[in-house]
Order: sequence, then C-alpha cells, then structure tokens
Amino acid sequence: MKIKVKVPATSANLGVGYDCLGIALDAYCIATFEEIEHGLEISGCEQAYCNSDNLFYRSFCAALEYMQKKVQGVRIHIDSNIPTARGLGSSATCIVAGITAASAMFHNAMNKYEIFDLAAKLEGHPDNVAPAIFGALCVSFMEEGHASMIRYGIKKDMHFIAIIPNYEVKTEDARKVLPTQMSYHDAVYQMGRCAAFAKALEIGNMLIVKKACKDKMQEPYRKQLIPEYDKIRALCERFGADTMFLSGSGSTMMALTREEECAMQLKKQLQIQYPAWDLRILHATYDGVQSEVL
Ligand code: HSE
Repeated sequence: MKIKVKVPATSANLGVGYDCLGIALDAYCIATFEEIEHGLEISGCEQAYCNSDNLFYRSFCAALEYMQKKVQGVRIHIDSNIPTARGLGSSATCIVAGITAASAMFHNAMNKYEIFDLAAKLEGHPDNVAPAIFGALCVSFMEEGHASMIRYGIKKDMHFIAIIPNYEVKTEDARKVLPTQMSYHDAVYQMGRCAAFAKALEIGNMLIVKKACKDKMQEPYRKQLIPEYDKIRALCERFGADTMFLSGSGSTMMALTREEECAMQLKKQLQIQYPAWDLRILHATYDGVQSEVL
C-alpha cells in the first residue's frame, strides 16, 4: 500500500503564546510512504538523514507500535518546501506525516486526537503539531502527559510575511537561553496578551494585535540568537506592518498585516536588504494534515 500525506508548515508561539499558540500556514511538506518487502529506503532529503534515525521513519514506527501493527519494510519519499531549523515547524511536519501515514496504512486506525497526543509526546511540546494536524489557529496544552487543544478561526486576509534568514537556530539551543522562572507580575502581563491576541487574530482586530503582541517570556532572550532582529523589527514598523514576532524558536521572523500592499512593499524592501534570505508571503490555512491512498 502507498500513502501520500500533505502537512502544512506552522508558526508556533506567535510571540506571546510560548508553547501554546500555533497557526497552520500554506507552505507544505508532501511525503509518500509505501510498504515494501523488506528494509528502509528514504529519498528526497540529505543523505545524512536517509537512515533509521530519520524523524519521518521514527514517527512512522512509533505509530506502528502504538497501533501494535507491523510492516515488512517501507519506502519514504519526501518533497518539502519548509526549511529546517527556521521555526516553521519542519520537525512537526516529519512527525505528523509519519504518524498519519502509518495510521492511513491501517485504515485510519488512529483518530486525529490520538495522532495529536502521540505527536505532542514525540515533539515535546504541542504548539506546532496541533495546527499541523487540525489547521487554523490552535491553542494547546499538556496535562499529565496528554495533549489538549482548541481551535480558533483566523481572519482570511491576514498576510504573514515570513522573513527567513539564511542560517538555522536549533530549538534546543533557543530553549537553553530562556530563564527558568517568571514573576507573578509578568505572568499576568503575558496571560492577558496571549488570550487577547488569539481572539484578535480570529476577528481581525489589528489594534489589539498590535498592542497584545509584546512578549516577555522568550523573545527578549532569544533575539540575541538573531543579530538582525532589532533592525528587522524597525523595518517592519516603518513599512506599516501591525506586528512582528519570532516564528517558533526562530530564526524566522514573521510580520503581520491585513494590507496586501504593505506586505508586498515590505517583502520588496527586505529582498533588497537581505538578498540571500528567503522571503515569503504566507496565509493561514484551515486544512491540517491530509492523507490519501495512492
Ligand atoms: N514552542 C516551541 C519553542 C516551538 O518556542 O521552543 C519550537 O518550534
């Protein structure tokens, strides 16, 4: 049997929602999984990842184990335009693709909530895998090792300008620079903004988007990993973007506007100043992972 899966990119945290907010975006990873007589064959990624350590494969195996199923061998082909280690959910796409494909091989033996629960365990936090599975804007959290989520809508005309530097930031490193404690005062600051920001994205209230998207939990510590952060923020403001935040743990910075002209002009200016960077105007998608039997 051969299964094709399509998983959207995701942007987690959205500034003020560290480890709990995430949105699905219209850049995709497409992968096929085919049962073969024996062994493991992987193509479509760097040679260094074509082995049993591959995250697509490990997630596929984790799902088989969860379902108590076996395959003789598997051939995986990957076709992704989501850059790795840039804060656009590339590891979540590997995990969600692997689990979904395994489930689809056994007549969708896992429902989406089981896929989510296992994916969140493998990823270690639920904020990327939730929108990768369910689409749109997801608020998620873990309780006693299990993942829960609730989905918000997202105003259709939001333009996400993904400013993708030509260097990686590893999530592991970006988590190490964070403090281990936060004051009660800052927690109150953060909670109000996080809840307001999610609703503001849903209804398109850019006044609240602008006011609420000022993070105190992670961006002030992580921006040291992205030397151009302050310059980019100033440029986004100058070109009229409503806000700019780190996408996931970086290195991507995400500017947000409902004005198409603003998005185009900002992208054009960034292209001039950072010709080696990848600049994309993305939009939210309501579709999470999709699978089909080929
Ligand atoms: N919430 C995670 C973090 C996302 O910020 O570390 C990583 O992509």
